[in-house]
Amino acid sequence: MYTLGIESTAHTFGVGICDSSSIVANIVDSYSGEGIHPRLAADHHAKVSSDVVRKALDAAGISMDDIGLISFSQGPGLGPCLRVGATTARALSLSRDLPIIGVNHCIAHIEVGRFLLGVKDPVTLYVSGGNTQILAFAGGRYRVFGETLDIGIGNMQDTFARAIGLDFPCGKEVDGLIAKGSLYLDIPYTIKGMDFSFSGMMTEAIKLLKGNRMEDVTFSLMETAFSIVVEATERAMAHTQKTELLLAGGNAASPRLREMCDIMCRERGAEVFVPPFSVCRDNGAMIAVLGMVEHASGRRMNLAETTVRQKWRTDEEGVPWRQ
Ligand code: FE2
Repeated sequence: MYTLGIESTAHTFGVGICDSSSIVANIVDSYSGEGIHPRLAADHHAKVSSDVVRKALDAAGISMDDIGLISFSQGPGLGPCLRVGATTARALSLSRDLPIIGVNHCIAHIEVGRFLLGVKDPVTLYVSGGNTQILAFAGGRYRVFGETLDIGIGNMQDTFARAIGLDFPCGKEVDGLIAKGSLYLDIPYTIKGMDFSFSGMMTEAIKLLKGNRMEDVTFSLMETAFSIVVEATERAMAHTQKTELLLAGGNAASPRLREMCDIMCRERGAEVFVPPFSVCRDNGAMIAVLGMVEHASGRRMNLAETTVRQKWRTDEEGVPWRQ
């Protein structure tokens, strides 16, 4: 049986298809306007949705007749974007009389790592534009051990990149600038307990662009931000005594962040796992995987329960498939 998963929390409309052993399709189409305007992104998703579903079925070499379950990102995310994914999922479910299941986007980032890489019980460092969190399974739930108090690390990076004239997406260009930086400039190290914030250091970095090399400012900003999240991650690993670190989210592609995680884990005798970029970024395959896992654990949902949950926290519900 195949599960079709739909992702639409933010920029990306994605459709992935999996069975119990592998991911057989993972198609994405992303809104690429300046910043993210929820309604324009939702318009984009509505325009491409049927095309992305068809492309995913073609890539898997199957038809809707082969699909046995529909899953979708129910939250957290931007309301207008989430509603496009939920509506697409309901339409597919109703027209084919298929079971439907809404899943938590952040937990999907973790479960796809467990499914693909065989990670058992990781601390997850989830770094993206909309989310920056440290998550781990404890006391029957995925708990948030630390998180940003304002913007995501990816949002900070994109806003700074716009200030230096780079277009979205800018990850590779920023990585290039980081590698060319040689002078560390003083950037506020804003960690408060296990939580952190990025907007103040971004404002300071933009000020530092006057009179300093762009490469040095980029390096200093990102080095500071990465140090903060790796420090909090290390403390979560020490507290939970876990020996696996899973990276998730689009910013997990950063070579410097991976290097810092490698060093930290080597020093504690732990192991780092990074899924391929196509499943690290927002994508439909991870939604399919979590839907399949939840359905197999006995979870069922009726249509009335499929309304979107914009602020859905990972720790709001139990995780029966891990009991
Ligand atoms: Fe994400």
